[in-house]
Amino acid sequence: MYKYLHIYHSPKLSGEVKISGAKNAALPLIASTILAKNEALLSNVPNVADVNTLLKLLSNLGAEFEFKKNILKIDTSNINNTTAVYEIVKTMRASILVLGPLLARFHECKVSLPGGCAIGTRPVDLHLKALKEMGASIAIEGGYIHAKGKLKGADIIFDKVTVTGTENIIMAAALAKGTTRIINAAKEPEVVNLCEALKNSGVEIEGIGSDEIVIKGSDGELIDFKATSIIPDRIEAGTYLAAGAITNSEITLTNVESNHLESVLLKFKSMGFEIKTQNNQITILPAKEIKPVNILTAEYPGFPTDMQAQFMAIATQANGVSTIEERLFENRFMHVQELKRLGANIKTNGKTANVYGPTPLTGADVMATDLRASSALVLAGLIAKGETKVHRIYHLFRGYENLIEKFKNLGAKMKLGLEPLP
Ligand code: UD1
Repeated sequence: MYKYLHIYHSPKLSGEVKISGAKNAALPLIASTILAKNEALLSNVPNVADVNTLLKLLSNLGAEFEFKKNILKIDTSNINNTTAVYEIVKTMRASILVLGPLLARFHECKVSLPGGCAIGTRPVDLHLKALKEMGASIAIEGGYIHAKGKLKGADIIFDKVTVTGTENIIMAAALAKGTTRIINAAKEPEVVNLCEALKNSGVEIEGIGSDEIVIKGSDGELIDFKATSIIPDRIEAGTYLAAGAITNSEITLTNVESNHLESVLLKFKSMGFEIKTQNNQITILPAKEIKPVNILTAEYPGFPTDMQAQFMAIATQANGVSTIEERLFENRFMHVQELKRLGANIKTNGKTANVYGPTPLTGADVMATDLRASSALVLAGLIAKGETKVHRIYHLFRGYENLIEKFKNLGAKMKLGLEPLP
């Protein structure tokens, strides 16, 4: 059985929502505990499917953990197996994050190649090239990356900015012999969260948050991992602000970091919404008139590709033509066909979509294709007349903690349903 989500017309929302820890920060931080000599403690860890998948992978390698109330205690000292199997990796591409730390600590590991994914081919060639430059020998055998060798520091230039690629090399470099310099590194707050945690645990890292990161390796000595808190999830936050925007309602987020959301908040403001920030809160207030928006996705601090689908849903209610260009991924418009099933007027040309608004939406059966595309369908479902049924809803649970409860607390009408596998 798999689950689908019924969403009933919920044209007005109100209230507060507490933002969870960031999935994309939790994943590399959990992987980094492979570098630890002690039991590691992580707090504000979101209880989402991707986190549980990575924990399953690590426990399959021999790690022991306890995960309760968003606190994770994990001990990797008993890892006795260094093969990340296909059955787990295929369900989550970010499993590739164990490659750098496993190789750095054990000098040999096998990690299944992540398969294709719905948003494009998403290769891992840049991760592998960088590890080779650090002295690893890498062979692809039977669908597995077989990496061997004792790592040494190197100058790495990423031809493209890659978030998990940067994280993998930071973790590998922490135990390498000598100094590694990463040029054209990703600057995402999640990368910063990882660097700060490693630095607090004694790893010498410079250039945190910049596009050039320098890491002095410990030559194999495991790190004394200090307790770390996961940063708030900026994409979850952006999604709930988008719920306020599409329903033109006032919503307040708590436990959020507005500095991580600057490009997103600017786009809400350009659409006519008022945004108030104070301490760890952000409030979105209704617009007098929702204006169209122009978006180009980019690496941080640019507009995040992970918010593109949600803004497309809002753009269906703007007065005029919005333009959205996806620059990071080659196939990230699968939500377009589904939004059209609800009545949206969207035309795509390659990586650009024009959204003609405002259009009234009407409930229908729609299919979630990836994590962020599914959140756009939930947003659209809120304002669609009648009932919307979002199928393959498991995509949402990969990255949104307590999604249904949080939406219901804001006054949305929704419930889970079950249906037999096709
Ligand atoms: C991470 C995020 C994901 C987000 C993406 C872009 C995690 C767990 N996931 O994914 O939510 O959408 O950043 O912000 O943090 N590329 C290559 N070769 C490589 C690696 C990447 O060509 O070896 C390309 C990709 O195909 C893509 C671009 O580089 O076009 C950026 O991808 P990348 O930053 O690596 O995305 P992820 O780290 O997988």
